[in-house]
Amino acid sequence: MVNSASMATNDNFGQTERRDAWWLAPLLTALGLGIFGIYATWAAFQGVNYEWGPYLSPFYSPLLQFSWLPRWFSPALLILPFPLIFRGSCYYYRKAYYRAYFVDPPACAVGEILPHKNYKGETAFPFILQNLHRFTFYIAVIFIAILWYDAIVAFDFGGKFGIGLGSLIMLVNIILLSLYTFSCHSWRHLIGGRLDCFSCSKMTEARHKAWSRISLFNEHHMLWAWMSLFTVGFTDLYIRMVAAGVWHDWRLF
Ligand code: FES
Repeated sequence: MVNSASMATNDNFGQTERRDAWWLAPLLTALGLGIFGIYATWAAFQGVNYEWGPYLSPFYSPLLQFSWLPRWFSPALLILPFPLIFRGSCYYYRKAYYRAYFVDPPACAVGEILPHKNYKGETAFPFILQNLHRFTFYIAVIFIAILWYDAIVAFDFGGKFGIGLGSLIMLVNIILLSLYTFSCHSWRHLIGGRLDCFSCSKMTEARHKAWSRISLFNEHHMLWAWMSLFTVGFTDLYIRMVAAGVWHDWRLF
């Protein structure tokens, strides 16, 4: 345990009295987000191999194609900004990348890289825009509905029910994306926040019950964030590889 007196002495970058591997979490975070960011950017600019049979990559859904757009323009570029803003303003990811990339601070009770003069945090531009997260949540819910539709369609092989490995990958992906989205702090607040009395009416009792259940998922928000980040990337990779003929879709039924 590090007390506030020892924190006050950490004036230089990286200076700390901590003896644990405090640097490991920010390092892994930087690697994980970096690898995903590079892959997602590359995949978004490809504009090919994003669908195969009943499968559609989550990076390209909903598929928006307009004749007035130049041929080189990838349809993923029209939609990816929305999930990106949702994830980028997520309370968990904020903590993660502030530590991993801004090293401000790199971990609790560790000296930070930026001087604290004029530091306004998320109360001034540009970081005040992080408060848009509660609004981006509504957009994320629309994407979740669309991706559920895609996952159901992934079991439709030319009008016949079937199960391919890709169908299962898409199903797992949307389940994890749903867990991530509906364990969001903003959703939890919408359901049970701003209530002074949980037992004052049937409605507030019901909201309290729902809030308690959402809180169970919310406790693991970081886990859902990482698992869904992995599956959304892997789902795109799987469909891309099958569409390119590199991998063969394993048909289970
Ligand atoms: S807090 Fe992470 S998605 Fe809302």
